[in-house]
Amino acid sequence: MKIVYATLTNQVTTFLKKYKEVHEIETIEIDPSKEIGIIDDKFILLLPSYEEFPFYDEVDDILLDNLENCMGIIGTGNINYDKLYMVTAKIVSKKYKLPLLYGFEFAGNDRDIKLVNQIISDLEKYGKVVPTEETEKWH
Ligand SMILES: Cc1cc2nc3c(=O)[nH]c(=O)nc-3n(C[C@H](O)[C@H](O)[C@H](O)COP(=O)(O)O)c2cc1C
Repeated sequence: MKIVYATLTNQVTTFLKKYKEVHEIETIEIDPSKEIGIIDDKFILLLPSYEEFPFYDEVDDILLDNLENCMGIIGTGNINYDKLYMVTAKIVSKKYKLPLLYGFEFAGNDRDIKLVNQIISDLEKYGKVVPTEETEKWH
């Protein structure tokens, strides 16, 4: 499993740095100057939310090439945005009928690391997420 991610102000990068201190995962950053092409593995998309998210075209390219390998979306954001909380992840999830697996604020915390790892382990083992009390509202 890989994590394909976008970041504008590096909160997602900080989350992934903390995540990688405890779990092994390969990550690919969405960078408009580099085409990602075919992803030879299952992956999840980790997307921060912006009212004007600048990487929709790149996300479209990735999903046109790799939709079958995309297991779902994890969103990040700021809950103060209320109805727009996790708006980018929600838009991409709806457009491509991909499950919104989980969401967290800013760079996440230890609990978010634990739950994201649980979600990834479930996807690797069972091909789907086994809902728990802590994650069931997302799927
Ligand atoms: C200009 C701006 C707009 C944002 N818009 C939203 C939003 O619409 N919904 C939301 O949930 N969070 C919004 N956020 C919060 C970011 O999604 C959140 O801080 C996220 O952790 C940023 O990740 P990144 O630093 O990896 O880009 C916004 C932040 C900024 C600076």
